[in-house]
Amino acid sequence: MKRSMIKELINTPTINETVTVKGWVRTKRGNKAVSFIAINDGSSIHNIQVVADLEKFSSSLISSITTGAAIGVTGLLVTSQGAGQSVEVQAQEIEVYGTCDPNTYPLQKKGHSLEFLREIAYLRPRTNTFGAILRIRHNMAFAIHNFFHQKGYYYIHTPIITSSDAEGAGQMFRVTTLDLEKLPKNKEGNVDYKKDFFGKPTSLTVSGQLEGELAALALGGIYTFGPTFRAENSNTPRHLAEFWMIEPEVAFFDINDNMDLAEEFTKYCVQWALDHCRDDLNFLAEHYDKELISRLEFVLAHNYERITYTQGIEILETAIKEGKKFEFPVYWGADLSSEHERYLVEQHFQKPVIMTDYPKEIKAFYMKQNEDGKTVRGMDILFPFIGEIIGGSEREADYEKLLSHATKMGIPEKDIWWYLDTRRYGTVPHAGFGLGFERLLLFVTGMSNIRDVIPFPRTPNNAEF
Ligand code: 4AD
Ligand code: MG
Repeated sequence: MKRSMIKELINTPTINETVTVKGWVRTKRGNKAVSFIAINDGSSIHNIQVVADLEKFSSSLISSITTGAAIGVTGLLVTSQGAGQSVEVQAQEIEVYGTCDPNTYPLQKKGHSLEFLREIAYLRPRTNTFGAILRIRHNMAFAIHNFFHQKGYYYIHTPIITSSDAEGAGQMFRVTTLDLEKLPKNKEGNVDYKKDFFGKPTSLTVSGQLEGELAALALGGIYTFGPTFRAENSNTPRHLAEFWMIEPEVAFFDINDNMDLAEEFTKYCVQWALDHCRDDLNFLAEHYDKELISRLEFVLAHNYERITYTQGIEILETAIKEGKKFEFPVYWGADLSSEHERYLVEQHFQKPVIMTDYPKEIKAFYMKQNEDGKTVRGMDILFPFIGEIIGGSEREADYEKLLSHATKMGIPEKDIWWYLDTRRYGTVPHAGFGLGFERLLLFVTGMSNIRDVIPFPRTPNNAEF
C-alpha cells in the first residue's frame, strides 16, 4: 500500500479508508486490551495515534514497539474517540522496521535540555523542537528562492574555494593538500605554494559577494545562497564558523534601493513563516517563547527605522549621560557591539533599525565612499534579540577610489585584479547585502542560540558529526 504522510491524514482525513503510515514511535501506552502508539513521520509536528488490539498481535511484536522504533502500520482511519487527536488508525498490520533499545536510546523522555540535545545532534531531528526548526529552515530557504525568482534575480553559485579574502578581515580557513608535517620550501625558505593543489594559497570563502558583483554586472540582479566560513574565534550564541549566507547584488541600485529591498525581503520571509509554518511556530511559542508570534507580526506592521551611524552614536551618548551603562566604550569611530545595537533596537526605537554611513575604517574596502571623506555607504540591519542580521552597502564603482582604498586596507591588487577590472569595463552604480541565514532563523524560531537552528553546528572546538 502507498504510504500516506501523517500531515495529510490529519489535515484532509479520508475517514473509513485503509491507510498505511510509517514513522518513528514517540510513545506507547495502553491497557490489557489495547496499545496506543503515537507515531511521527517528520511531515508535521503532530503525531498520529495507532490503536492496536492486543488480540490481533503477538505479545513479542507489541513489546518490540518502544520509543524510537521505526514501524509501518496499515489500518482503518477513523474519527478518534479520545481527547487530543481528531483521527486515529485502527491497526490491521504492523511491521517493525527497526527496534530501538530502550536501555540505551538517549531520547526517552520529553523535555531534554537544548544543551543536552546539542551533544546528540545526530538524533535531535527526532525531537519535536528540531523537527519544527528544520521544517521552518526548509521553508525559509524556499521562501528566499521564491522571493528573488519572482523579482527576476538569478541564483548564482559562487566558489567555495577561493584565493581572495572578500571581507579583508583575515578570518579564513586554509585549504591545502600539502603535507603539514613536511611542507615543501622554496629557495627563500618559505612554504612553496607552487607545489600546492592550486599552485597558490587558497581558503574557504567568507562571502560570495565579489563574484556575485561580477554576475550582477551582466545579469542585472543576482543572489547567492551558500555556505560561508569564518575562522573568527567568537564563542557567542550568534556566531558560527560555518554558516549560510544569502547575498543579493543588483546593478543600478543605490543604497536606498538596497535598504528597500532588504526590508521587503526580510518581511517576505517572516510573512512566509506565519503563512506556512503555523503549527511549528505555535509549538515553539508555547514551549520556548510566548512572545514569538506577536514579535513576528510586529516586524511586519512597522517600517524599519533608518538612521545614520552618527545619529546612532548620538543616541547612545545621550543614553550614557542619562545613566545607561555599557560594557564597551561609545565614541564616533567605534565599531558598535551587540549591546549597543540591541539598546537602539530593543529600547530606543523598539523596532528593526537600518543604520548607514559608517566610518570607513571599520568597514570593508569595497563600500562606496561618501563625499565627506570619512564615511562609507554601508548599511547594517539590526533586529530585536539578534543585533546585526544583514550587512551590506552600495559598492565603490570608481576604479581609482576602489584601488586606493583596497591598497590602504592591505588587500593586494594581485588578488583582486579581476574584481577591479569590472570598474574599467562598463562600471555602474550597484549595491547588495548579505543576510545570515541562521540569524534570520534565530529571529523566526525565537531560539536563543545559533547552534540550535543549524543541523550540525561548527564552532570553535566543535566539529562533531
Ligand atoms: O556583515 P558581513 O560580514 O557582510 C558580508 O559578508 C558582505 N560580503 C555581505 C554583502 O554585502 N554581500 O556578513 C553578512 C551577514 C551578517 O549580517 C550576519 O547576519 C551574518 O552574515 N554573519 C554570521 N552569521 C553567523 N555566524 C557568523 N560568524 C557570521 N558572520 C556574519
Ligand atoms: Mg557585518
